[in-house]
Amino acid sequence: MSDNYSSAGYSGSTKSSPTRVQWSTRMAFILAAVGSAVGLGNIWKFPYITGEHGGGAFVLVYLGCILIIGIPVMMAEIALGRRGRHNPAQGIATLAREAGAHPFWKIIGVMALLCGFMILMFYTVVAGWAFAYVPKAASGSFVGENGDTIGSMFGGMLADPIALTIWMTVVLGLTMGIVLRGLHGGLEKAINLLMPGLLILLLILVGYAMTSGHFMEGVSFLFKADFSKMTGTGFLVALGHAFFTLSLASGAIMTYGSYLPENVSIGKTTMIIAIMDTVVALAAGLAIFPLVFANGLEPGAGPGLIFVTLPIAFGQMPFGSTFGTLFFLLLAVAALTSAISMLEPTISWLTEKFKMTRFKACMLAGSLLWLGGLGVVVSLNIGSEWTLFGKTFFDMLDYLTSSWLMPLGGLLMAIFSGWILKKTVMQDELGLSSTIMHQLWLFTMRYITPLAIIIVFLNVLGIVNF
Ligand code: PFF
Repeated sequence: MSDNYSSAGYSGSTKSSPTRVQWSTRMAFILAAVGSAVGLGNIWKFPYITGEHGGGAFVLVYLGCILIIGIPVMMAEIALGRRGRHNPAQGIATLAREAGAHPFWKIIGVMALLCGFMILMFYTVVAGWAFAYVPKAASGSFVGENGDTIGSMFGGMLADPIALTIWMTVVLGLTMGIVLRGLHGGLEKAINLLMPGLLILLLILVGYAMTSGHFMEGVSFLFKADFSKMTGTGFLVALGHAFFTLSLASGAIMTYGSYLPENVSIGKTTMIIAIMDTVVALAAGLAIFPLVFANGLEPGAGPGLIFVTLPIAFGQMPFGSTFGTLFFLLLAVAALTSAISMLEPTISWLTEKFKMTRFKACMLAGSLLWLGGLGVVVSLNIGSEWTLFGKTFFDMLDYLTSSWLMPLGGLLMAIFSGWILKKTVMQDELGLSSTIMHQLWLFTMRYITPLAIIIVFLNVLGIVNF
């Protein structure tokens, strides 16, 4: 960022305010947005939900959702953020007012704030697992162990509320610390190292998976589409994950967009972010599934999938402890760069709307997030019996955000930017190189994206069937 916005005075200003800080370069924005997008969603969640929903067909639907929903919605969200030049709630309210639209539309921003906050409650806990695995890998705990022992190691960690709380607190503390100091410089440098590092390590793991003797089994699980395995829920989960993995409809991308200088091309930038994100997810899948089959594990084993599969591999491969340590460290940092993007929208809202200092805002949000995180920790062990509609607090947060709030937010954003705003607003902001490209984007926003989301909703509600 061109300035440390932790200390920059917002003037509650309009679009052209000279006092509102901006990313120093287009690259700074891309790095921060890629840092937000690439995280636990790609490496932890994508493989395990793919395993749970039968593989290839799910992956195909997910990729389709990225292409026809995720990419156009991301363009809209960055553009809305930049045009609104505020936190999500006030930014959208300003745009609605300018368009002469009903104040109802502010709900897009409010839902986004809520959604990012709710995700962060469980994200810090899962990021804590990655942190906890760094010393485990470094001390050689996985060496020579079989699947059963490594499985019980993971189970043992989940059963320990104190350890989970400590790691969650570490993650939350680091997230607050970084957000408090502003995303200045440090973040850009960290992501500059992180992304190539993460990709190289994933490629090494894919290379190792090739030697497992089950590589093609993994490839065909990931890419051979068998639609008989897809359920209505599968479609909803794939759709929700497209939003989750691109950090959409949760305030993060909109807030980062609000710091974006005028002259940056939103279309190109979005493509780079989406491609990076998809490459990392597919590489994670290619690294993990061959190892799942090679070790006789269940693809549908659930959230522990990478925390069991990869340690088995680290326990067997040459330099496994080093690679393992590096991998979990990079995963933890990737999770941190996503976590800070989830906290920033709330902080910008509290500071702009209530004129709180950044410190106070961080403390307030941090305390609530800590309590929420504690609820998630407890739902993994002593409170695992406390459920609502059969879901623990953790499951409920994940379900409500990924399956409902994010697609619904995406639907509203598509309608708002496609139908409600004056055509010229988005034309100006997106500045697509040709009219045809803009027409294509507009058509997608007006018809394709809303229809696709509505059909998936109707299908899962049992109102239509396919
Ligand atoms: N995109 C992140 C991931 O895949 O891990 C998760 C995420 C970040 C979701 C920021 C929402 C958000 F606002």
